[in-house]
Amino acid sequence: MNAEKVEIFDTTLRDGEQVPGCKLNTRQKLIIARRLDEMGVDVIEAGFPVSSPGDFQSVSEISKLVKNAAVCGLTRAVKKDIEVAAEALKYAKYPRIHTGIGTSPLHIKHKFNTTENKIIERAIEAISYAKTFVEDVEFYAEDAGRTDNEFLARICEAAIKAGATVLNIPDTTGYCLPEEYGAKIRFLKEHVTGIEKVRLSCHCHNDLGMATANAIAGIRNGARQIECTINGIGERAGNTALEEVVMILRQHPTLNLSTNINPKYLYDTSLMVAREMGMMVQPNKSIVGANAFAHSSGIHQDGVIKHRETYEIINPEDVGVTESAIILTARSGRAALAYRAKKMGYELTKLQLDSVYIEFLSFADARKEVVDTDIHQIMELSKKNNRAFA
Ligand code: KIV
Ligand code: ZN
Repeated sequence: MNAEKVEIFDTTLRDGEQVPGCKLNTRQKLIIARRLDEMGVDVIEAGFPVSSPGDFQSVSEISKLVKNAAVCGLTRAVKKDIEVAAEALKYAKYPRIHTGIGTSPLHIKHKFNTTENKIIERAIEAISYAKTFVEDVEFYAEDAGRTDNEFLARICEAAIKAGATVLNIPDTTGYCLPEEYGAKIRFLKEHVTGIEKVRLSCHCHNDLGMATANAIAGIRNGARQIECTINGIGERAGNTALEEVVMILRQHPTLNLSTNINPKYLYDTSLMVAREMGMMVQPNKSIVGANAFAHSSGIHQDGVIKHRETYEIINPEDVGVTESAIILTARSGRAALAYRAKKMGYELTKLQLDSVYIEFLSFADARKEVVDTDIHQIMELSKKNNRAFA
């Protein structure tokens, strides 16, 4: 059966760029946007045009550059924001305005000091106004994660009637449990009149480490767009990581869902974003971290050398990583040492390996990692000191 498509909405250049210290200039944003377009992203959220002249310029330049993806600009439910976004997007082949308003009791009371009905009115006004500029209008119900489902359904229904093409259901504070977030999406699918005319979108934050799990729960319950960022960067603890959702769908064909993303670009794009933003990726980050395909314990190394799939569920080449790494430490065994030595041109007999291994362990205990120059030294010492090499 043909896998159903999940659209990837990348917000590295908007939510990702909100990270303190990660500000990008227009030239850097263009480099990343070109790559996102090349790798198959469906929608690029290029910025928040009303926020600054620099962001306006970036959205405008990205609109001219991007060939395949829709280009999206964020706005509040404010006329001026919408006008400025429409102006910034005017060169885009596929422009999208992303407008919305807070819908949780906390937002309604403390941010807007208003009522639910007034919030619905403002949403309708914003969407209708955005529709006078572009056909494709995405509505976000900010803090939907903590919004009562009945009210969320009412505002979603009103948004559809006003012409929204996509409904974004953000878990803005990263609060929801996956079951809860999935149930929210299902509730909307089952209770909102006209829901079949629009695409539901998951926008999940990582405050409790559940951004990816929540997005997956969302699509398993009927959402067909995921909002995400490269390396999972974004406000506070970040957003759903693009590379994670792409690979989850690829590695689990029984979900029968797929994306347009070419995974070969994932590793290099992660490096590109880390470099341009000056934000290093944690080594244990799934898919793209330096240790994602590195093996350091003897048991695992022995397994991977015999058959890669014993300890790897992804072929590193699929995501653009050249090969798995066998890291030599005091936890490594003879198999790993022989493997590395062979790669460096040393073919060892069993007896020779035994003696080199003793030398290796005394090196390894004194260091975090044994590198190639250490191996040469270990070989020299072993040759000098041991009859196995005579
Ligand atoms: O997290 C959020 O709610 C957002 C919206 C502005 C879409 O980023
Ligand atoms: Zn967000």
